[in-house]
Amino acid sequence: MIAPSCRSAARFVPKQAMRAARRRRFRNASDAEAGRSHLFCEALMANVTFSSPRMKKDLTVYAVAGDTRTLLAVAKANNVPLDFECENGECGSCQLKVTVLSDKAPIGVALTEKEKTVLRFAGKITAQQIEDAETKDLPPPWRLACQFVVRSEDILVEF
Ligand code: FES
Repeated sequence: MIAPSCRSAARFVPKQAMRAARRRRFRNASDAEAGRSHLFCEALMANVTFSSPRMKKDLTVYAVAGDTRTLLAVAKANNVPLDFECENGECGSCQLKVTVLSDKAPIGVALTEKEKTVLRFAGKITAQQIEDAETKDLPPPWRLACQFVVRSEDILVEF
């Protein structure tokens, strides 16, 4: 058994297939090694669930955390009908709401200066939320998909 590449792009993996893979036992040392490698990768992966009235149903994909791909790149790779134009944090067309699906405190994801400007101008973020993000690592709900980098926590993305 060869562990799937952790560097591959975010991809759709049915939940049932992932559960079955986790239950699978390894038959020899190389399988176990591959399994450990895979389990290590799972710790760095995040479930990203896209939800929108424009989609027939919600779509959950796995994204590799820390590979510097933006949420917009994950959406494009999975044919999620997300609006975008500039892809550079300037037009604001990729605004979306991100909710962390965990009991733990959300990982502080720094707002880019472009996000602060565009979201403030669009009325999606307050001065207090910007201050909380900067001083308390509390991420605001509204983000720009082209600026947001997926981390190792499961998120719900609404647009
Ligand atoms: S695509 Fe323009 S701000 Fe994200």
